[in-house]
Amino acid sequence: MAQLIDGKQLSAQVLREVAAEVELLSAEHDVVPTLAVVLVGEDPASQVYVRNKVKRAEEVGMRSIAHRLDAECTQDALNELIGVLNDDSQVHGILVQLPLPSHLNEDDVIAAIDPAKDVDGFHPLNVGALASGRASLVPCTPQGCMIMLRQVHPDLSGKNAVVVGRSNIVGKPMAALLLQENCTVTIAHSRTKNIESVSRNADIVVAAAGRAKLINADWIGPGATVIDVGINAISVDGKRKLMGDVDFESVAPIAGAITPVPGGVGPMTIACLLLNTTRAAKRQLA
Ligand code: GUN
Repeated sequence: MAQLIDGKQLSAQVLREVAAEVELLSAEHDVVPTLAVVLVGEDPASQVYVRNKVKRAEEVGMRSIAHRLDAECTQDALNELIGVLNDDSQVHGILVQLPLPSHLNEDDVIAAIDPAKDVDGFHPLNVGALASGRASLVPCTPQGCMIMLRQVHPDLSGKNAVVVGRSNIVGKPMAALLLQENCTVTIAHSRTKNIESVSRNADIVVAAAGRAKLINADWIGPGATVIDVGINAISVDGKRKLMGDVDFESVAPIAGAITPVPGGVGPMTIACLLLNTTRAAKRQLA
């Protein structure tokens, strides 16, 4: 049976380090790292995510401000709010919860965020910096996955890594981080031929396709490390249940190490968001 990589425990460790940094910034510079979270509309999943981000931020001694705009809000109103937050020296990190309602342009909003406050690492300048190996603010989910991977593989050099999924939020930055650690990286996606055998050859599989239980025993080679990024809300007997992209019961007996859902990558993402906010606050010291 695979070793379980416990995201709850590992994220608690990261959060303790963040809390210590927050205390230091407060004591030495009289600065309280502050995160502004912008939520547009009433998407239930986004509301839960935003609530968790705000709660965790406060638990580590940060200040956190949630800005809730209604679903019909205009692009100008949203960009104007971003402008105000950019200019506010008391705000160190800005996060706009995605997805946005379909009439709003996500790229425009992301480009409007000051790159120094872009704690999601989604701004084109930060994306380019990561791609060329000069990353400053790295997207939170891939960053959390790397911390989990290092638990099992202190040296990732030469490992065969397959990332399933090519999103801007997870798949692409994940591949860039693995490449930076000298992995041989394949990005597999819905058009990949023989995807199961591509995945089966990997030492490391990062599942970020957004499809519940896509990855079963046929996709995983003996002893592989499996990181499950999926958070798929499924209705089971009328109850909402969270399910990963990996069929845990099928894969766990074959894999060498595996992350659970829930309690895996999810808590690591929030911990890395707060890590980024502290880093951003430090860099903004006058
Ligand atoms: N929606 C799903 N994941 C994310 C994320 O990492 N950041 C933001 N801003 N929105 C998301």
